[in-house]
Amino acid sequence: MKILGIGRALPEQVIANGQLEAILDTLNEWIQSRTGIRERRVLKTHSLTDLALSAAKEAISDAGLTGEDIGLILVATTLGDYLFPSIASLIQADLGASCPAMDLHAACAGFIYALDTADAYIRSGKAQNVLIVGAEAITRLADWEDRSTCVLFGDGAGAMVAGPGDGLLSTHLTAQTNSDVLYSMAPPGNCPFTQAPQNASGGLKMKGQDVYRYAVTRSAEDLEIVVNEAGLEISQIDWFLLHQANRRILDAVRARLSLPAGKLPSNIHRTGNTSAASIPLLMHELYHAGLLKEGQLIAMSAFGAGLTSGACVLRWDKAPPETLTLADDLFPLSQQPTPTT
Ligand code: ACO
Repeated sequence: MKILGIGRALPEQVIANGQLEAILDTLNEWIQSRTGIRERRVLKTHSLTDLALSAAKEAISDAGLTGEDIGLILVATTLGDYLFPSIASLIQADLGASCPAMDLHAACAGFIYALDTADAYIRSGKAQNVLIVGAEAITRLADWEDRSTCVLFGDGAGAMVAGPGDGLLSTHLTAQTNSDVLYSMAPPGNCPFTQAPQNASGGLKMKGQDVYRYAVTRSAEDLEIVVNEAGLEISQIDWFLLHQANRRILDAVRARLSLPAGKLPSNIHRTGNTSAASIPLLMHELYHAGLLKEGQLIAMSAFGAGLTSGACVLRWDKAPPETLTLADDLFPLSQQPTPTT
């Protein structure tokens, strides 16, 4: 497969760290120094379905296609507006599509899982063009009384359309059972014959340091595996797009693989951790800044609850957009690369 189109949608409401200081025992300085996050977007009035739809429409239009051309809709999400129907089903009609549609849940690694699934459908000939959306309203799942986790997250949606091509050079997915270090329990329901689990409690629970160790080790290893499987060296990769979970995780992976800071864009300071939406949101910014050039090699890596992880190497095959939206803060740790003119 190759990427034909890309889109994104962010909620309008910006919540800066200072606003969290007003409702939590926290400090902007603590959040910025531990995570790199300055602000995040939080859904207020719009539904997550609307956000996913908006990103999907932009990606389909950017690919020069219509909804009728889409053979499969995949939405990577932790939790949509409904437990069912899926977001994918809910956006299908508005896109003018009539293809199969499903949500895919692999937490923060969901977008890479969806890319790999899209590739399998395209390779097998079961679908020609696949719409892949990463859409998350993870702030709804956060426990807003737990200052160590709720400050990390933001909402958003990013989308891509994949079609036949030879852009995806390698993928590697992993899963290892662990419901202890990062989880959020499903609502227990009110069936009079069922006993709620003893540890049933709302909100997202995380052992931050365990997740940090997992993320850094897994991501560095996954990147080495996919680069090697693609028959390449780490030094040949032009861009490393990592799940924007935490600036410290990005720094640690960069140090472990000796990556130049100028190859590791980051927007976490503006978005927070948007889970499955984070990689397509970052790629959208890089593309619209004119920094993605045809033929360049991109290595992606994401990791999250499950524990799951996914990585891939993609050769970019798409001409830059006609109008550039320069983002002068995509490389907070380094000098700016030169945009395509
Ligand atoms: N504001 C102020 N102080 C805080 C806050 C806050 N928001 N949160 C925690 N603290 C305090 C704690 O109470 C503690 O105080 P104490 O020493 O008096 O007891 C102190 O800060 C240190 O707390 P730790 O939990 O040990 O903080 P840590 O240095 O581990 O940082 C963090 C927490 C940022 C979550 C870190 O563990 C981390 O980076 N983990 C990676 C996990 C991650 O980023 N997950 C993202 C979501 S999952 C995913 O996408 C894969």
